[in-house]
Amino acid sequence: MKSESEDTETGYHRHLERSQKRWDRKSDRYDRDERELAPMREAAIGSLDIEVGDRVLEVGCGPGTNFEQIRSEIGEHGSLIAIDYSPDMVKAARQRVERRGWENVTVRRADATAADIGNGFDFAVAILSMSVMPDIQKAVENVYRSLRNGGMFVAFDVRDVPEGPARIVNPILRWYFRWYANWNPDGDVVESVAAVFDESEIVETYVAGIGYTVVARKSR
Ligand SMILES: C[S@@+](CC[C@H](N)C(=O)[O-])C[C@H]1O[C@@H](n2cnc3c(N)ncnc32)[C@H](O)[C@@H]1O
Repeated sequence: MKSESEDTETGYHRHLERSQKRWDRKSDRYDRDERELAPMREAAIGSLDIEVGDRVLEVGCGPGTNFEQIRSEIGEHGSLIAIDYSPDMVKAARQRVERRGWENVTVRRADATAADIGNGFDFAVAILSMSVMPDIQKAVENVYRSLRNGGMFVAFDVRDVPEGPARIVNPILRWYFRWYANWNPDGDVVESVAAVFDESEIVETYVAGIGYTVVARKSR
């Protein structure tokens, strides 16, 4: 009989494998498919006061959809390290960097939950990525470790309806998120961020709270 930790590990790797397949497949049309979310992702990144020269980490960067905005905020003298697990997403993100000639944007292929993603970052950004991690709490802990004291994290993401009669749609919503994005039903981004970070606040919600932006600070 398998132990509970073996089951957890198998579940983790299955989730990661599914993620790779899903996102590899979507890599060539991702920007087009996700266009309508642009105002929300831009507002989320804009809620951090990123300045010229800052060091920024992007977790689950996809094909680099947010690079233009982050690069314009950090300028030539800051740096952006972007991480994604899907090889095809990484390839698309690197092509974008090459096309634009950005010398201070680096794309790494890694599992942001478990890899050493560096440290001393001023800001970390996760757009629609924390909820698809194979272990959400561990991913949030990893982001926390990567920040300097006083560093800030923003996540824009989706969840099921948090309260009220509209919760009736939750079973369909959960099924849809899982089917479309390999969303992880076993974790809660907002709860994990509140548990791990020293301060956190939901600063914006969309469509009955299904979309949300949470901002968090590391103080110690
Ligand atoms: C919905 S896309 C988000 C892309 C982009 N951040 C955006 O703004 O649209 C989710 C991304 O998370 C990546 N991802 C999933 N699991 C990951 C993991 N464990 N480590 C790093 N990236 C991961 C996927 O490969 C995919 O590119």
